[in-house]
Amino acid sequence: MSQHILTAVAWPYANGPRHIGHVSGFGVPSDVFSRYQRMAGNKVLMVSGTDEHGTPIQVQADKEGLSARALADRYNRIIAEDLTALGLSYDLFTRTTTRNHFSVAQEIFLGLYNNGYVFPKTTMGAVSPSTGRTLPDRYIEGTCPICGYDGARGDQCDNCGNQLDPIDLINPKSRINGETPKFIETEHFMLDLPAFAEVLGTYLQSKQGEWRPNVLKFALNLLGDLQPRAITRDLDWGVPIPLDGWRDRSDKRLYVWFDAVIGYLSASIEWARRSGDPDAWRAWWQNPDARGYYFMGKDNIVFHAEIWPALLLGYNGEGARGGTPGSLGRLDVPSEVVSSEFLTMEGRKFSSSRSVVIYVRDFLERYSADALRYYIAVAGPENQDTDFTWSEFVNRNNGELVAAWGNLVNRSISMAAKNFGEIPAAVDLTDADRALLDRSRTAFAAVGAELARSRFKNAVNEAFDVVRDANRYLAEQEPWKIKDDPTRQGSILHVALQVVDDAKTLLTPFLPNSSNKIFEMLGGEGVWSGMPQISEVSEDGGPQYPIITGAYDGAATWAHQPIRSGTRLAPPTPLFTKLDPKIVDEELARLADKTPTE
Ligand code: MF3
Ligand code: ZN
Repeated sequence: MSQHILTAVAWPYANGPRHIGHVSGFGVPSDVFSRYQRMAGNKVLMVSGTDEHGTPIQVQADKEGLSARALADRYNRIIAEDLTALGLSYDLFTRTTTRNHFSVAQEIFLGLYNNGYVFPKTTMGAVSPSTGRTLPDRYIEGTCPICGYDGARGDQCDNCGNQLDPIDLINPKSRINGETPKFIETEHFMLDLPAFAEVLGTYLQSKQGEWRPNVLKFALNLLGDLQPRAITRDLDWGVPIPLDGWRDRSDKRLYVWFDAVIGYLSASIEWARRSGDPDAWRAWWQNPDARGYYFMGKDNIVFHAEIWPALLLGYNGEGARGGTPGSLGRLDVPSEVVSSEFLTMEGRKFSSSRSVVIYVRDFLERYSADALRYYIAVAGPENQDTDFTWSEFVNRNNGELVAAWGNLVNRSISMAAKNFGEIPAAVDLTDADRALLDRSRTAFAAVGAELARSRFKNAVNEAFDVVRDANRYLAEQEPWKIKDDPTRQGSILHVALQVVDDAKTLLTPFLPNSSNKIFEMLGGEGVWSGMPQISEVSEDGGPQYPIITGAYDGAATWAHQPIRSGTRLAPPTPLFTKLDPKIVDEELARLADKTPTE
């Protein structure tokens, strides 16, 4: 039965270009998942956008000498272009600076406020003693009170992943000039997280055996110590607080993480409006049969497994204080939080400031999108922190994509094209023929089950087993040696081409570009698996901005489909490019070049 599947993809900060560590966390996994779900006949809504508020944007804007808005405009476009080039099939990739997003974020705030889950509180905010100006959280560094890590920031500890307040830091220092901040009274709004302890506990417990164990364990741990959290900040860049006396203040804004997670909902609403049916989003958000899958790197777990469910439950009136749903109606909480671990780069942490980095754009200038997607799927940080190395990239590209898969496609099609000019008929199949055909036909259920559970490594490896078995079959049957029995030679090639066709379907979620080419080579017409594109839009009368959208309802279906004998075949063009092992040293030299020596 066809299901509504929301694929909610973490929103990249618009404070710089994205590197391959970022897209290995949220990007490729969410796209592989969505493409599979569409092929399996489900109704997918895949949404995201750039996260454009808060101190991350302001810090970078200061550095580049730009306004926050100009900076966000600039990186929103760059990021949208890069994610499109990687083939990520967003139904809508938008941004958090839209009017629609402002009004949805404010509506959620009001719903929480009206239900009593948000209350004002006088707290202590940091100011610089020398300038008297407020010091944004990210400008403050110190020792984490929870894990003792030295470089914790005022908003978050990157070591243990806990959210912090600057005043919690042991030995806080300004990153601007090293001085010790002064803390003064300032008024903020707090989210009453303890009021959700019980519902969150029940919610998370019900996910045992379903979520990745690391994610669930992390989320359950957080429940031990729920404290009210500030959801506003002393800032002028962000969504205004929608209450009388606050709305017009230029120095108080909603906290960036509060508005960003609401983006999943606002983007769904924007998508519905753009599709011409403003209520269409409800089928993914107010439907007991719909499922919502959230994709991110592990530093985002707290916001998706704790804060976002709490916001939704509070808006619904389902926390300890009760209440009623706001004007949008009751909203569904995430079905699954699918988090990746971290990718490192040649043994070191990715760092734009220290140039331990390869940006998506630079990568795709030199190598193909499918090569990167394949690497991330087969060797990415799915369950543990994982190192990217250029030598593994070259080995996998040359050994698996070029030698195993590309070569199977190439020699099967070229031999059939040369000797028959078409897909030859299968006559008098042998046991070996039937065994291979069965093998690839039964792979659909096995690979599909892995994909539905976001076990991408298992899925891609099982799909590749079909490729390896097909290569073994050809090596055993040696159709190139058959000189006087065109019927048998044709039958072997038919079997090989059928398995090539099956494998191109099994690999479509990972390698949509090359699968589209194979579809055409084997006589397919129209679109197999749709690719994203950028269009320019605006909100009535507002400024133009780029969005990613696409028509993804191509012919691609998660099933074996019989190829048709007699289909014309042309000599194939190569699918993948063999890489010279020399590029390993070149890329390592590039990294070393950019790394300042200390
Ligand atoms: N911008 C955040 C990051 O890059 C992710 C935001 S995800 C959302 O870590 F939930 F807030 F949307
Ligand atoms: Zn910590």
